Amino acid sequence: MNRKCPFVFHALEVLETNTVYVYDRTISSGTYGWVVLCKGYSRVRNPNRAGSSGYSLKPIGKTFALKIVDANKILSDPVASRRFNNECEITGHINHPGVIRSFTQMATSLESTEKPGTQHDVLILVMEFFEGPELLALIKDGPLGRGLSRDGAPETERAARIIFRRICRAVAHLHSKFIIHRDIKAENVLVDDDFNIKIVDLGYGKKFTPGVRHTSPLGTLFYASPEVLDTKNGYVGPEVDAWSLGVLLYCMLFRTFPFYAEKADREIDEVAVASKIRRDRLRFPTGFCVSSEAIDMISSLLDRNPGNRLLPADAVNHPWLKRY
Ligand SMILES: Nc1ncnc2c1ncn2[C@@H]1O[C@H](COP(=O)(O)OP(=O)(O)O)[C@@H](O)[C@H]1O
Ligand SMILES: [Mg+2]
Repeated sequence: MNRKCPFVFHALEVLETNTVYVYDRTISSGTYGWVVLCKGYSRVRNPNRAGSSGYSLKPIGKTFALKIVDANKILSDPVASRRFNNECEITGHINHPGVIRSFTQMATSLESTEKPGTQHDVLILVMEFFEGPELLALIKDGPLGRGLSRDGAPETERAARIIFRRICRAVAHLHSKFIIHRDIKAENVLVDDDFNIKIVDLGYGKKFTPGVRHTSPLGTLFYASPEVLDTKNGYVGPEVDAWSLGVLLYCMLFRTFPFYAEKADREIDEVAVASKIRRDRLRFPTGFCVSSEAIDMISSLLDRNPGNRLLPADAVNHPWLKRY
């Protein structure tokens, strides 16, 4: 359930871009902040408005997604602070239709709705707004929701192929700019009615240098590769996104994670999941009707040996993605 953004703001003005962002609704609430939808206006001189400011607002016909984070929370937490800075830096420079872009950032204070009269310092990232649900929703009950069993098979696989091809292209673009995402998952990909995609949440994103290894275990457990969990040897970058893409495609086609474990009370058993990722052989559920090329694509992305793993730049040329 989304918690409504607890800060009051009706209109935020950014002089640098001459845009006024007028609050519309809260899209999402996360650990560190909120994403809200705003409509864009420009302030134009209006001599008829004597007695008021002498200005009126004119719609510019654009919508924006504003990520609002509590500045005090962020500044006292180095990981959160790095996440926010990374996201601003990467989205501010990237230019690809499959990756979210941001236009500007600001620091301001907003009134709390929980304690009226109290001001909170916030940091705001202004992004383009992408109209479309998370890929997770499509897997749960959208075009991918019927799974691959029986009559749903060809359409499901075809829809998955179109979406996944676009995701791979976007990730390959990030890699070509030496950026790794490190948190690719069904919640961080938005998909519209025409299956256009947008990758969001670049907070764990990082510049990588070929040959330089990292050991920070970031991202989301279900999508983490064995070498991210075994911090001994570390990882360079593109190969960990490749593994997450393999998990994502598995979820799109089979509606379940490749490595999954629950405790008796149905809570997720994180220790068992991590151990399965490290050691278990990749298995596919039975009773699904799926092409051998799709199976090969998933197996190549989920290759336990990072050196042999299919990378997104090559994945776009895999026979499964070449089909129409
Ligand atoms: N630019 C955007 N346009 C539309 N929806 C967005 C946008 N950015 C984020 N969202 C929505 O908000 C959710 C949370 O944003 P995200 O950046 O993933 O933050 P976090 O996961 O850290 O809370 C996303 O999963 C997506 O549903
Ligand atoms: Mg997210």
